[in-house]
Amino acid sequence: MDMKKRIAERITSAAQRSFEGCAITAQELAAMLEIPPEKKLGDFALPCFRLSKTLRKAPPMIAAALSEHLACEEIDHVEVVGGYLNVFLSRTFLARSIVEAVLEQPGRWGSSDAGKGKTVCLDYSSINIAKRFHIGHLSTTMLGHSLKRIYDFNGYTTVGINHLGDWGTQFGKMICAYKKWGSREAVEAGGVQAMVDLYVRFHQEAEKEPALEDEGRAWFKKIEDGDPEAMEIFSWFKEVTLKDTQRVYDLLGVTFDSYAGESFYNDKMQPVIDELREKGLLTKSQGAEVVMLEDYGMPPALVLRSDGATLYITRDLAAAFYRQNTYHFDKCLYVVAYQQNLHFKQLFKIIELMGYDWYKGMEHVSFGMVSYEGRALSTREGYVVYLEDLLNKAIEKAREIIEQKSPNLPNKDEVARQVGVGAVVYFDLHNDRNKDIDFRWERALNFDGETGPYVQYTHARCCSVLRKAGEVSAAPDYAALTDDEASDVLMLLSRFPETVRKAMEQSEPSLITRHTTQLAQAYNKYYFEHRIVEEGDAQGTAARLALTSAVRDVIKTGLYLIGVEAPERM
Ligand code: ARG
Repeated sequence: MDMKKRIAERITSAAQRSFEGCAITAQELAAMLEIPPEKKLGDFALPCFRLSKTLRKAPPMIAAALSEHLACEEIDHVEVVGGYLNVFLSRTFLARSIVEAVLEQPGRWGSSDAGKGKTVCLDYSSINIAKRFHIGHLSTTMLGHSLKRIYDFNGYTTVGINHLGDWGTQFGKMICAYKKWGSREAVEAGGVQAMVDLYVRFHQEAEKEPALEDEGRAWFKKIEDGDPEAMEIFSWFKEVTLKDTQRVYDLLGVTFDSYAGESFYNDKMQPVIDELREKGLLTKSQGAEVVMLEDYGMPPALVLRSDGATLYITRDLAAAFYRQNTYHFDKCLYVVAYQQNLHFKQLFKIIELMGYDWYKGMEHVSFGMVSYEGRALSTREGYVVYLEDLLNKAIEKAREIIEQKSPNLPNKDEVARQVGVGAVVYFDLHNDRNKDIDFRWERALNFDGETGPYVQYTHARCCSVLRKAGEVSAAPDYAALTDDEASDVLMLLSRFPETVRKAMEQSEPSLITRHTTQLAQAYNKYYFEHRIVEEGDAQGTAARLALTSAVRDVIKTGLYLIGVEAPERM
């Protein structure tokens, strides 16, 4: 439903009727239509100056002539002001076309097939083995998950990749510590925390007994050589980590299509290194090999250490080629904190220098830091907040609020989970991604502020209005939706698709979060100033219910796109 296009078509046929031989097309005319700076100048305005050249008439005369032929359902009235034709849309028509368009395909308003036949890889969450999932990982996880949904919604084929951090000398140390002081039972019982403890102990003991470092290195060498015992322990560490993390992913509803992490690329780096060398891109530097990037204002990228060891970027190079060859991506997004800006700039530049055009589809989606209740997180100072704890606390708090507000709600546990988790996710995706976030309970869980629970509550309100009204058989009279409050709601509905498109283009889900919030606010204003169900006005009631239904649908879609659930009762 493109209003501008329809109006342009109307004006075009008016022009053909007013001026013999007028050859203007609707497309050309649409390009001339402007949106006036003030509401009193109409919804659209046509400056007639350009037309006056071809038609050989003064602009005010053209505007006046056109105005004679514009009686139609879309237009309420037109005004001629100087050389401008100002068009005022029919609010009734607007209401009908928007509401009907939304309700025609439930859950699809704002979707498109822009990405038909195209593939996007999204690298997000990408956790490190044997480390606990803390709130610093929330943004990468939820931004990535949301972007995946947004791309899906626009017809792309998407591949969600958890590029596991499962390679490095620390795993040798961890095995060494495990062999000395650990036990299978303790790690099974303690999960990732037990592994973290072993690692901490390793460093404490190694201070007293430096020979331990050599033992750790020897164990890592065994992993590199594929020694069966080392490999068995190492893959079991991975399993334990993934099992622990899975609980968090389940709470968040986040999934992946691939868990190919750093170690997956062990046997896939050589061809890339060879190619770099053949193309003359590798330079020896103190025994190591680097790609010089001075000409591009960047320090050299270390690709091979002097002992032949590969690095993080070597694995990312192999991963990029693997993804291109396997998925033939049009885009590959890396949702990673801004601290890695340089890493990704180097990575993309190297692929460009290798002569591959597809580097253009690679994008680093960076984001800011999270602090907690006004304090920066620091592992060293012991100030860490684990994501699972945060989510469980949110669920518990939501549960308390529900207990007070709706003690008779049937599925309280389920709703508490949806509201608690939704509050955290919404909080994370509410501001521009590059801004730092300070997580505060009173701001995340407030049912009246700009929060997840507020938007969810509005959705549940719409559901409840519709449930209570039951079946309506009357045909809606859309003239009932022409007041200012309804118009504000309608405008927000009509602009939703544009917001979804922008969110995708800018990799900025917060645009959807805020649009959905505005829609909820506008609907609540409407709800408080108008009676939805009015005795003796069946057709007006039907129109107000249709509006409510459209709002419910679009709020649900907006929440879905940012990874937040929408309970029907709260
Ligand atoms: N595991 C890395 C970290 O925690 C993030 C990996 C991001 N993805 C990538 N392909 N480099 O810093």
